[in-house]
Amino acid sequence: QSTLHELASAQGRFFGSATDNSELPDAAYAALLGTEFGQITPANSMKWDATEPQQGVFTFGQGDAITDFAQAHGQSVRGHTLVWHSQLPGWVAALPPAQVEAAMKNHITEVAGHYRGTVDAWDVVNEPFNEDGTFRTSPFHTATGSDYIATALRAAHAADPDAELYLNDYNIDGLGAKSDAMYRLASELIADGVPLDGIGIQGHLAVQYGFPGGMQQNLQRFADLGLDVAFTELDVRIPLPADAAELATQTSYYQRVVEACLAVERCVGITVWDYTDKYSWVPAAFPGQGAATLYDENLRPKPVYDAVREALGHD
Ligand code: G3I
Repeated sequence: QSTLHELASAQGRFFGSATDNSELPDAAYAALLGTEFGQITPANSMKWDATEPQQGVFTFGQGDAITDFAQAHGQSVRGHTLVWHSQLPGWVAALPPAQVEAAMKNHITEVAGHYRGTVDAWDVVNEPFNEDGTFRTSPFHTATGSDYIATALRAAHAADPDAELYLNDYNIDGLGAKSDAMYRLASELIADGVPLDGIGIQGHLAVQYGFPGGMQQNLQRFADLGLDVAFTELDVRIPLPADAAELATQTSYYQRVVEACLAVERCVGITVWDYTDKYSWVPAAFPGQGAATLYDENLRPKPVYDAVREALGHD
């Protein structure tokens, strides 16, 4: 039978998964990662703390292992992420604000430059907003206000003119204050001629919080700005133990995300934030929740996997 990526490709989309270096020695895991998915995103190894742990000291070994894997399996790579308030080494926050912009530009130049030709799309700035749509505090925002976002995009474009440049955030899946803020920001950046190709919608959903309202409309408004959109970190967590009703809700959420993406021409693809419960980030971050992915802890596809195949148009 066709893989998820083959089904998505038939619809002009990619279907990808996050992965992490510590998971690749798991041969059964790697075999599925390499065949079922057409795109991979390193969950940690291209972040600032991994790539520039000390100022000016760059370490690309872990990230390179991910791009090597992708190359060996004919997959595209989403670079994640150049500028983020989290997983930021202490030295960045300790810099005098007047030195932060230069450090950020240098980081982007070195990392995006290193991966030029192997990374297809970058989450240039990750999670710039608070839930109410105000800009999140970070060393970058403290240094230059929201101008850091345009500066980062320009630096990324200079370092890798061929990469698709994205802004990425969570809880912007549907219409709301936070996605409104992303929409305003994207509109302003485009008006100012800043290089921006797409909006990454993380898609960390939870059955107990309901399905985001106006998802298709939200995707479409970004598309109407001339941007691509992508689901970059999809998963749907459940309070454990998951009962039948919750599993049915989860299945419908996955299907509705696929349907929303297929309904919007510029929705270019979907990446799950790892494909198996064996390696999902959810139980560690939300104790008592889990079962958020398409495959169980033994790497067996769950019923929700078949539901996603069906939503993608089956075989
Ligand atoms: O590398 C250290 C290791 O040396 C140490 O022994 C171990 C002990 O806890 O921790 C390891 O670091 C962990 C790292 O993942 C690598 O496994 C961190 O503690 C852990 O916090 C970190 O979690 C990552 C998380 O981002 C951090 O914010 C998750 O794996 C990763 O999936 C998650 O991804 C984020 C996206 O980047 C942005 N969107 C939300 C998404 C989920 O939180």
